[in-house]
Amino acid sequence: MAGRELRAKPRVMTKDTHGRRPLVAGNWKMNGLFAAGAEVESLVNRVRASAPAADVLICPPATLIRPFAAAWGQRGVAFGGQDCHHADEGAFTGDISAAMIRDAGGDYVIVGHSERRSYYGETDQVVSHKAAAAHRAGIVSIVCVGETLAEREAGRAIDVVSQQVDFSLPTLSNAGNTVLAYEPVWAIGTGKTPSTDDIVAMHHAVRTRLTARFGAAEGNRMRILYGGSVKPANAREILALADVDGALVGGASLLARDFDAILDAYRS
Ligand code: PGA
Repeated sequence: MAGRELRAKPRVMTKDTHGRRPLVAGNWKMNGLFAAGAEVESLVNRVRASAPAADVLICPPATLIRPFAAAWGQRGVAFGGQDCHHADEGAFTGDISAAMIRDAGGDYVIVGHSERRSYYGETDQVVSHKAAAAHRAGIVSIVCVGETLAEREAGRAIDVVSQQVDFSLPTLSNAGNTVLAYEPVWAIGTGKTPSTDDIVAMHHAVRTRLTARFGAAEGNRMRILYGGSVKPANAREILALADVDGALVGGASLLARDFDAILDAYRS
């Protein structure tokens, strides 16, 4: 027991990160009206009072990017979109382009989230084209990959995710324009997370694909986020793992208090 109590908390900063600056991104999904800016203001104030050693990003609904970025951009929190079309412009009723996200003040866009892949049938090829559109517009794509529960139980998780990584990243991806997010589908919004060993094994597999394709220097500079039921109670442990360069957070990003508690993993 004494040994257990004496064991030090995992320290995020002691692992080899090849200079990668962590990113903690909040995905609000289809939640939040203009009044939710109060949470952003609270988050900005907390981040300014005690800056984490990480980039902080909120991806609100597209309607809120401009007002939020206008009020709080450049104050320690960046803003981004949750999806974009693969074309630069045109007759695509209801869609928004990466250039529109940038024009609204966004610096990032999430592409290939599992909810987009499953509800809208987005394939790796579509995701790759969306990421390329983001790069043309000059914003960073956060490319999501992840296996279903059936795929994990069949022992295929690493194969499935490796294939998604191979086919969801456009040729011109680099560490400056691309962030990977490993999000096991069965862990999103369920309160379940993989074991730390499984997270490490998957992030290592993703890193291996990135270095094989883009070269050791570039592949080692690309950030790989973990997403799926990240919350204050498990963030410190997950974010300390090798090759975990931050988190993509859904539910726990809606309240400034919770999201800020996750950022504590990057405060000394
Ligand atoms: P969650 O969502 O944190 O609510 O599990 C993560 C995500 O969908 O990006």
